[in-house]
Amino acid sequence: MNDVRVIDVAPRDGLQNEPGVIALDDKLKLVRLLTNSGVDEVEVTSFVSPKWVPQLADARALCDSLAKAPSKPAGVMYSALVPNDKGMDQALEVNQRAGRRILDKVSVFTAASETFSRKNTNASIEETIERFRPVVARAKANSLLVRGYVSCAIACPFEGAISPQSVAHVSRRLADLGVDEISLGDTIGAGAPENIVAMLDAVRSALSGEWTSDEFKLNLHLHDTFGRAAACVIAALNAGIRSFDASVAGLGGCPYASTPGKRAPGNIDTSLLIRTIRDRGFSTGASPDTLAEAASFARSIVSAARVSSG
Ligand code: HMG
Ligand code: MG
Repeated sequence: MNDVRVIDVAPRDGLQNEPGVIALDDKLKLVRLLTNSGVDEVEVTSFVSPKWVPQLADARALCDSLAKAPSKPAGVMYSALVPNDKGMDQALEVNQRAGRRILDKVSVFTAASETFSRKNTNASIEETIERFRPVVARAKANSLLVRGYVSCAIACPFEGAISPQSVAHVSRRLADLGVDEISLGDTIGAGAPENIVAMLDAVRSALSGEWTSDEFKLNLHLHDTFGRAAACVIAALNAGIRSFDASVAGLGGCPYASTPGKRAPGNIDTSLLIRTIRDRGFSTGASPDTLAEAASFARSIVSAARVSSG
């Protein structure tokens, strides 16, 4: 078992903010390269409204194609975002149609900022939590793991700085709902080592039991606006965090975190994350060579789509 879990979110976070829609076959190849790169999990898509995120409107087709692809290496998980019961219907149908588990985990997502929550999901934070109640119950009934995302864990593109206590409060609400893990999202890359550690401390204080003893239950999801994400990873490793999201080639960004003239930033690059983790003496399963191949492929498909979408 590796010291640190790495989740590549490029097929979801990476592609949702691209101006063009990437062809299904290219998405499948990207997922396949990442699956074979040694990362622990690939976040493959989102079952959200296609009106809100047209880039991922092919979520069902993508998952059905994954069901026909050669089996993934043992231990690698696939996850997908699910905002509500309708998304959950689709996630469960993927596994039912395949007759086996293609998706291992669903991820519900809310925020520590009311304004961002409304802009991203047309609901208050409390309304999102209520939406998640049946989703989490159905995931458990179908033996799926559940991740709960808290966006704007450091700052909101509309409200500015977010207090660690707000993040801790929403994390507690998600833990009470029964999610298996919480991913703390620095949506606009405002993190620096000091505010990341203060936020982690507040979240840990609000949680108890296995949330503080199991080092894989809290995950950090960093976007890298100012080149500080690697320093934040080091601070988080020192603070005991052992699970991180990243995106191959540093793609990513939430379309609803973009403000006029300012596009939401990409995630920390998976290769940088791996280097940072290894430089600190921790092990990960990811192979730099395979990741380099995936990064080069990811760059080629998004730049072709950027050119054709003008
Ligand atoms: P709404 O408009 O309030 O939803 O959106 P609604 O229930 O009123 O339904 C409106 C229409 O959408 C209906 O269709 C529904 O059937 C359909 P119509 O009758 O008009 O034809 N609909 C759906 N279709 C497919 N799948 C669904 C679904 N739900 C409703 N699941 C909703 C509410 C939550 C659906 C919408 O706001 C939404 O899809 N938001 C998603 C936005 C998003 O994906 N943002 C990016 C991901 S979050 C992120 O990037 C942050 C993260 O990376 C962490 C970080 O960095 O901080 C995770
Ligand atoms: Mg994100």
